[in-house]
Amino acid sequence: MALVTTTEMFKKAYTGGYAVGAFNVNNMEIVQAITEAAAELKSPVILQASAGARKYAKPEYLRHLVEAAVELYPEIPIAMHLDHGADFATCKDCVDTGFTSVMIDYSSHSFEENIEESRKVAEYAHEHGAVVEAELGTLAGIEDAVSVAADKAMFTDPDQVEEFVKKTGVDSLAIAIGTSHGAYKFKPGTDPKLRLDILEEVARRLPGFPIVLHGSSSVPQEYVKIINSHGGALKDAIGIPEDQLRLAARGAVCKINIDSDLRLGMTAGIREHFVAHPEHFDPREYLGDGRKYVKAIVAHKITQVLGSDGKA
Ligand code: G3H
Ligand code: 13P
Ligand code: ZN
Repeated sequence: MALVTTTEMFKKAYTGGYAVGAFNVNNMEIVQAITEAAAELKSPVILQASAGARKYAKPEYLRHLVEAAVELYPEIPIAMHLDHGADFATCKDCVDTGFTSVMIDYSSHSFEENIEESRKVAEYAHEHGAVVEAELGTLAGIEDAVSVAADKAMFTDPDQVEEFVKKTGVDSLAIAIGTSHGAYKFKPGTDPKLRLDILEEVARRLPGFPIVLHGSSSVPQEYVKIINSHGGALKDAIGIPEDQLRLAARGAVCKINIDSDLRLGMTAGIREHFVAHPEHFDPREYLGDGRKYVKAIVAHKITQVLGSDGKA
């Protein structure tokens, strides 16, 4: 199977009551960990690259890493997605270089500007066989260079979604219902709740339309503990409860974005390795241990949170 768009994935996910994981990729070990786990569990998967990832690894490396995964695992559908595309030019560049899906994130602009830029991207992408995700509402946390303070974050207004989707022609919509980017989402001891009522209202207004959740890491405490007991100094924080994400995945949410949890896994594996083997200096040894934890986390997400195992 060649790289696919998310169209079929989302149709099946919507009717099947599960979601497809969109995992951020930045280097070879991360691509390997995600796709090995997805292939073993026969799960569709979305590999997504942010502007930061493209700058770090160079787009050519990312593209060929993803192509290598597609060649190795032809039995599972793999989509390549641009995460948080800043403007038309970035989205166009990705469509032109083989991404099957792009996100135009104009959510921090006015409603009208968001419609206009998203419409332009959708028009171009559709002419070239790619699909488009846009965002309405603003998440707290850091999206690339843009940092949004928690008090400036805004839930998606269900009154706007029909007009937005109709005028832009986008294929999926990211909404803000209480998730946020990064590893420091909520204070320990709190009981974070997603606004599933907003999700339900959006789904009622857009029947059958795929919804996307960003900022969906759960900040697994076992990995935070490994990091902090092996020389790390992460602040105490918790993430999105997995049961809330499962509920969302059973509804209209077809794509769930996870990055921070993979970073925690990679860091935990490497830190643990160096404490156990301070004499080591072969990158294959410590990166290999980081990769093992990333793979375990992706497998956990697929089977316990997304429900996409066996759906390839
Ligand atoms: O939404 C943000 C993702 O976690 C990507 O983060 O811009 O640091 O690559 P990044
Ligand atoms: P997390 O920081 O919660 O992993 O969110 C990642 C994300 O939304 C990428 O677009
Ligand atoms: Zn995001």
